[in-house]
Amino acid sequence: MKTRALTADVQIPYLGFGTYLIADDAVAAAVEEAIRAGYRHIDTAEAYQNESGVGAGIEAGLEAAGLARRDLFVTTKLWPGNPAWGQPAKTTESTVAALGESLVRLRLDYVDLYLIHAPFERDQRLAQWRGLVELREQGKARAIGVSNFGIKHIEELKAAGLPTPAANQIELHPWSQKPELARYLDDSGITPIAYSSLVPLATWRTAAGQHSAKTDQMKADGERADAPFRVMARKYGVSEAQLLLRWAVQKGYPVLPKSTHPDRIRRNADIFGFTVDDEDMAAIERMDRGDGVAWAMGDPTKAP
Ligand SMILES: NC(=O)c1ccc[n+]([C@@H]2O[C@H](COP(=O)([O-])OP(=O)(O)OC[C@H]3O[C@@H](n4cnc5c(N)ncnc54)[C@H](OP(=O)(O)O)[C@@H]3O)[C@@H](O)[C@H]2O)c1
Repeated sequence: MKTRALTADVQIPYLGFGTYLIADDAVAAAVEEAIRAGYRHIDTAEAYQNESGVGAGIEAGLEAAGLARRDLFVTTKLWPGNPAWGQPAKTTESTVAALGESLVRLRLDYVDLYLIHAPFERDQRLAQWRGLVELREQGKARAIGVSNFGIKHIEELKAAGLPTPAANQIELHPWSQKPELARYLDDSGITPIAYSSLVPLATWRTAAGQHSAKTDQMKADGERADAPFRVMARKYGVSEAQLLLRWAVQKGYPVLPKSTHPDRIRRNADIFGFTVDDEDMAAIERMDRGDGVAWAMGDPTKAP
């Protein structure tokens, strides 16, 4: 499995399996299928309310594949609380307690990566990050990072003299390339982890109730028979999904494709046998459309 160095002693596999919007009673089968298909990195979160099922799937998948816990990279995320939505913001103490509860649900002693899910509450951001630093010292998280943080949110941590996050999980795909943030992360030695890589597909989050801020134009562009990713995918003899995932990996971004269909789960893992050529990488670079669309409230990297 191809990996990228996250810290001096932690490697993150480029291919991860996403579990957002998979219900707790369905996710175990999907995670087991992913591990059987070769995924060695699983992404979940307190907020997905499926950590129990993910834990069951990890146990079954490791057993089926004859693997040990150390062969798998597991990420979960702290839900920081958002007072704007009537939720109390977590403190250092409740942050430390929250990972303890996630570990019980996941049936694990540690996670490989623990992230603050979003930069909601300004007053508690530093306190929550101190909680993650403590959890790393306790060995409950091998590496710690953030998600949906913009430059100013990371600068706040640095200005307080706190350790720099190892990773920032953000929405990254050809339509939301975030060039300034990507450059900043590169300069700061922070690994960008790409989520919602498959946004340009016509099949992305089409079920009722799944968050999407895609515009009608984006939806129409995804349907077109001559959609640029469809044309490029044909050239390499791969699916559009594989092309989008391969683009990210060539940019150096670990990816987290989610699917509940076994055939898609398997095909989405098959992204290391072809290369997007320089001309197509340059063409994709010109397709940026700005902010992400995975959060109904707008791109959270822009939070105050
Ligand atoms: N940190 C954050 O705030 C954050 C936000 C969003 C996501 N994430 C993480 O990133 C993961 C991936 O992001 P995502 O769930 O937004 O979306 P994604 O993986 O980019 O796309 C998933 C969507 O595409 C469809 N799909 C998957 N493979 C396909 C294929 N080969 N052909 C056609 N359609 C396909 C899926 O449908 P089916 O399931 O029906 O196949 C689903 O509707 C999440 O699961 C989560 O772990 C994190």
